[in-house]
Formats: sequence, structure tokens, C-alpha cells
Amino acid sequence: MPAKIIDGSKIAKSILEEIKHKVKNMKQKPGLALVMVGSNPASEVYVNFKEKDSKEAGFYCERYNLKEDISEMDLLKLVTELNQKPEIHGVLVQLPLPKHLDEKLVTNSILPQKDVDGFTPLSLGRLLCEDTIMAPATARAAINLIESTGIKIEGKNAVVVGRSNIVGKPTALMLLEKNATVTVCHSKTKNMAEFTKKADILVVAAGRPNLITKEMVKEGAVVIDVGINRVGGKLVGDVDFEKVKEVAGFITPVPGGVGPMTRAMLMENTLKAMELSKKFSK
Ligand code: GUN
Repeated sequence: MPAKIIDGSKIAKSILEEIKHKVKNMKQKPGLALVMVGSNPASEVYVNFKEKDSKEAGFYCERYNLKEDISEMDLLKLVTELNQKPEIHGVLVQLPLPKHLDEKLVTNSILPQKDVDGFTPLSLGRLLCEDTIMAPATARAAINLIESTGIKIEGKNAVVVGRSNIVGKPTALMLLEKNATVTVCHSKTKNMAEFTKKADILVVAAGRPNLITKEMVKEGAVVIDVGINRVGGKLVGDVDFEKVKEVAGFITPVPGGVGPMTRAMLMENTLKAMELSKKFSK
């Protein structure tokens, strides 16, 4: 039997509707600052979506399009100003930044309670200690999509392919927190299929089209494809969707899977950041 397709767009839409409804009844609106440096076309698309989502959700949104050659000092100054603005609850600096800017330094300058990306060392460290304040949106999207299938995570063999700080590592930590037995594979893993074949839950965030073939997937597995790759003008994930869906139990499509869900999770994080602001201002 072919896999059930996990409709990320549909789930995300209902989450966004719920947020919109909540925000409608709020006197003070959640505030999100979107900072974009230069004109990376992919980043522009992502930031446009984030701006559109936040406006549709009824948030207050400030967008900063900064020149490619902005100095590190000026960018840090802006982040510090946004950290101090009471109407801004979430600060997001779109990555990648131009080479002359230190991404870690800039990201780390965002106040932890305004870190809606969950990328600062404090946010990631708290995730490690099971004391999460803000988890990265893509990792949260992957977990929510797994849970949307009704399959319990506890006790399952989960394999995460990819070890980035913003997707692979936090997703692995969140699966571990939910009592899965977690294996992390990466570009230096030998015989990756040996591991992926045992996965009841397979999350792939490697950025390599068609990395995961049908032969690498266990029958009935839940397959979450985080990859977004442009191949011949078409968006594809890291999983050979057409073939893998013949063996998997559940699978996310690209586009329409993790992407829209990640956007919804960012809006949830912003809402949470507003709640946190009340705690931090006391
Ligand atoms: N670049 C690609 N994905 C992301 C993301 O989730 N957040 C930020 N800030 N930059 C990104």
C-alpha cells in the first residue's frame, strides 16, 4: 500500500487560523522584526513569506532590508535597538549573511527571549537540558508532522540524516526528549542505508536531492523530508518521493510538507515570545 501523504500545507493552515483567531482578541499584538541583509534571492522569498504570514496572522511586523555592505557594527546596533523595543517580541536575522559578517556573533546578539529562530546558544543549550524556551521552527515542524500521523514517538528507532545546528541536532534532541532511540547520520557516515533501513521514523535534512532511495527505507516508516533543492527549475526534497512512497507508511511532500509547517511554527514562536516578554519585564 502506498504511503499516506502528510499534508503540511493543510495542517499549517489550521494552525495559522488558530493563531489569527487568538491574535484578533488581543489588545497588544505580537511584534516580529525581520532583518534581511543583501539580496540573496532564496532569502528574499523566505522573508517575503514570513512577512506575509505575520501580517495575515494580525502581527505587528517591521522589515529591514539592509545593504549588502552594511558593517557588522551597524547590524549589531540595529539588533540591539530591536532587543530594546517593547513592541517587538521576536527578532529574526535571515541567514546566510554576507561573508564579511560573523553569523554567530550577530545571531548571538539577539536576546534569548526574542530569539524566535531558537538559534542562540542559550536557546539550543536549554533544548539540550530539557528546559526549552524556544525551539527552532524547522525541528518543531518535523516533530509536529510526525505526531500528526498518530504514530507514537516513544520507543521508536528514529534516524536523523543531517547534523546542522538549526535542523539536524535540535530535531535529534527533541526526538530523544520524546523517548525515541535516536541515531544521527551525516556526510561521513559509512553505509548510511544500514541505519536508515532500521528507522521507524526517518527525518532527512541533508540538502542533497534524492539522497534517500526506496532501498534505504523500512516498510511502513514515517519519512519527513526537510530538504529543499532546486533541480531543473523544480523544487525537490532529499528523498526520492515517488519511489519511497511505495514503501513508507507516511511521507511529507516537497513542496507542501515541512516548509509551510516551519512557517506556522515561526508564528507560534513569535506568539510565545510575546508571552515571554511579560515574564521578562517583571
Ligand atoms: N535561512 C534558512 N532558514 C532559516 C531560518 O529558519 N531562519 C533564519 N534566520 N535564516 C534562515
